Amino acid sequence: MKILSIESSCDETAAAVVEDGREVLSSVIASQVEEHKLYGGVVPEIASRRHAEAIVPVVNKTLCEAGVTMDDIDAIAVTHAPGLIGALLVGVNFAKGLSLATGKPLVPTHHLRSHIASNYISHKELKPPFLCLVVSGGHSHIVMVEDYTKMKVIGKTRDDAAGEAFDKAARTMGMSYPGGIEMDRIAELGDPEAFKFPRPVVRDAPYDFSFSGLKTAVINLIHNMKQKNEEIPREDICASFRFAVVDLLVGNFMKAAEDYKVDKLVVAGGVSANSLLRKTLEEESKKRGYTFYKPDKSVCTDNAAMVGSQGYYEYLSGNIAGLDLNAAATLPIDYR
Ligand code: KG4
Ligand code: ZN
Repeated sequence: MKILSIESSCDETAAAVVEDGREVLSSVIASQVEEHKLYGGVVPEIASRRHAEAIVPVVNKTLCEAGVTMDDIDAIAVTHAPGLIGALLVGVNFAKGLSLATGKPLVPTHHLRSHIASNYISHKELKPPFLCLVVSGGHSHIVMVEDYTKMKVIGKTRDDAAGEAFDKAARTMGMSYPGGIEMDRIAELGDPEAFKFPRPVVRDAPYDFSFSGLKTAVINLIHNMKQKNEEIPREDICASFRFAVVDLLVGNFMKAAEDYKVDKLVVAGGVSANSLLRKTLEEESKKRGYTFYKPDKSVCTDNAAMVGSQGYYEYLSGNIAGLDLNAAATLPIDYR
């Protein structure tokens, strides 16, 4: 079964053709990041306008690269939530129009479920159940993936998401959006023990995260140094900050794995591209005898191939939308 998938939840207009949830026949991403860099973050209205311009060429290109036409496509999967509402609406309305014109079924696909599915593309043998750490620009969740479309949130962030914390800390040091990637690169050159950043715990919720105190600590440190005209040791700050974020993520995730007695661990979302997070999860899983899966770096950040993968399983579970499908800025991962 071939699915045409569409993703427009943030600042990437993407489309893909995916066969049976696992084989990517084509995947095209038009990124707007260079334009949003000028403003230090995603400007929602600009994002919507760029999606409107890019969506038709991106879909045409992906069909062409897969060597198929709409006649070969069995269903259309689209990210309908969560994300920037104006951005989501472009993809949703385009998919609805295409579904109406072609008579192909329309499959609404949750963005975070798609991030998890990026692992089905990278690991053909991977099947639920497993415990997944979902870390993106907007979310930080520990999710029990009981089945492809049945999930339970075990822990989540109480304030900032991990990616957001990386981006904001990086911005304070003058790095361009999204700073998480550059911070990861610079961190490789520094000492992770140079600064002792706090490791906040959420009382009575051992799997929940809180990153805002950590973010404030790094911002205060930098402001203090600037006021004293001291040189900012960017390498050491990046390394220490990255170490603190990874420590918090991995600590809670391993605790959840132990308490829920799972043997398979998975990571997903943009922050899963972080080199220290990948390495630490690998090592800690090995130490405890868990099998660990991480997505290929090419599918960590937003793309439509992962939407085509999750869309396949949503379709099989009967998640077919009518032409009244709407977008939603927020929607829990376990909504159905
Ligand atoms: O999943 P994603 O592409 O978009 C959302 O759904 O939010 O995640 C984007 C986030 C950004 O915050 C970006 O800084 C972060 O992922 N990110 C990283 C790395 N690569 C991307 N954070 C830390 N280290 C990285 N290597
Ligand atoms: Zn994402």
